[in-house]
Amino acid sequence: MPAPGSEGSRFPLMEPPMPRGPAVFDHSVFVCTGKDCSKAGAKKLAKRLEREIKARGLRRKAHVFRMKCTGYCKLAPVVAVQPGGCWLTREEPAAVVEQVLARIEGREPEG
Ligand code: FES
Repeated sequence: MPAPGSEGSRFPLMEPPMPRGPAVFDHSVFVCTGKDCSKAGAKKLAKRLEREIKARGLRRKAHVFRMKCTGYCKLAPVVAVQPGGCWLTREEPAAVVEQVLARIEGREPEG
């Protein structure tokens, strides 16, 4: 009987499956979509971030996650970027998008 993985074996050697989910991204962008952040435009902001990431061909580098209330409601909208522990709060959507993209692209934010 041929050894597993060798020619003619009924048990071909297979590549381990690619990890899926957060582990494959260099950057995770967490957008709070709790009640207060949503009132401050967080859901639109999350969609805008996803559009910009896609438009710049960064989908394999970064992913936007929607999260529940983080407890910092007075600072809405709340966005966090990992790695780096970057928290963006009370910022205009355009500024958040620019800062997030700058982190993902490894450059200084404009403006
Ligand atoms: S709703 Fe976003 S921090 Fe509470």
